[in-house]
Amino acid sequence: MQFPTDDNSATLHALFPTLVYQAGLTECRSYPFAFQGEAEEFQFPVESGTGGKHFAGEYHGKILLHQQESLQPFFRTLAEHVGKYLRVLGMKPEFFDMQCLKSWFVLCEPSDGEDDAMMSHNHSCSDISWVYYIDVPKDGGGIRFHAGQNLNTAPFGSAFHYDWHDDQKSAVNKLNCWNRDAWSIQPTAGDLLMFPGHQLHSIDANRSETKRVSVAGDIALTLREEHVNLEFGRTAQKHWLQMPLTDRGVDDDS
Ligand SMILES: [Fe+2]
Repeated sequence: MQFPTDDNSATLHALFPTLVYQAGLTECRSYPFAFQGEAEEFQFPVESGTGGKHFAGEYHGKILLHQQESLQPFFRTLAEHVGKYLRVLGMKPEFFDMQCLKSWFVLCEPSDGEDDAMMSHNHSCSDISWVYYIDVPKDGGGIRFHAGQNLNTAPFGSAFHYDWHDDQKSAVNKLNCWNRDAWSIQPTAGDLLMFPGHQLHSIDANRSETKRVSVAGDIALTLREEHVNLEFGRTAQKHWLQMPLTDRGVDDDS
């Protein structure tokens, strides 16, 4: 992507930007009710553990929301948006099928003083990860994306420090995606967010009085049958050979 400077005297090339997709599913008023209908079966206790509180049903093995009949309309809509996302990325969605690997509730309780409700992590088994927001209270916090490495700011180090309390002490004139290595998006109820599964992200603390409820999931893309003879991509599961791994030595055949 390239664009001119404000005075049109130079061309700027934005290299390797990450595209996060955000769409409001506000016309789909039945989806929150459908998820609420599954809440009892997929509920779990929010408890403290290694790395902080465990707000995600993934930690509790409640990961198969996508198999529920009542939620199929939502997942069909999700597939449409995955197609749009791939189209924006300059891909051909018609080459692929969407495989929902996991999907789970995230129940983010009001903060008791921790900085982050969920530490920085990624979903490395996922091609595309998504979040659908059901209840988002005011001051309920957002999702924060992390570069994971310093990009534009690397050569100058701490020169890019931004003083949140005193603008006079900031060399940064205006916060933007070129001078930050983390960026928060504030979702509202009904929003669908999608991003590459390898993308580091964390969840801001919920500073409101009520619980923030969302659903998250991981998607793999597999090649459709008519494109199985390509040199790239992942075939559908029916072509795979599944074998259990064992620590038995290869020569130990007895
Ligand atoms: Fe996550």
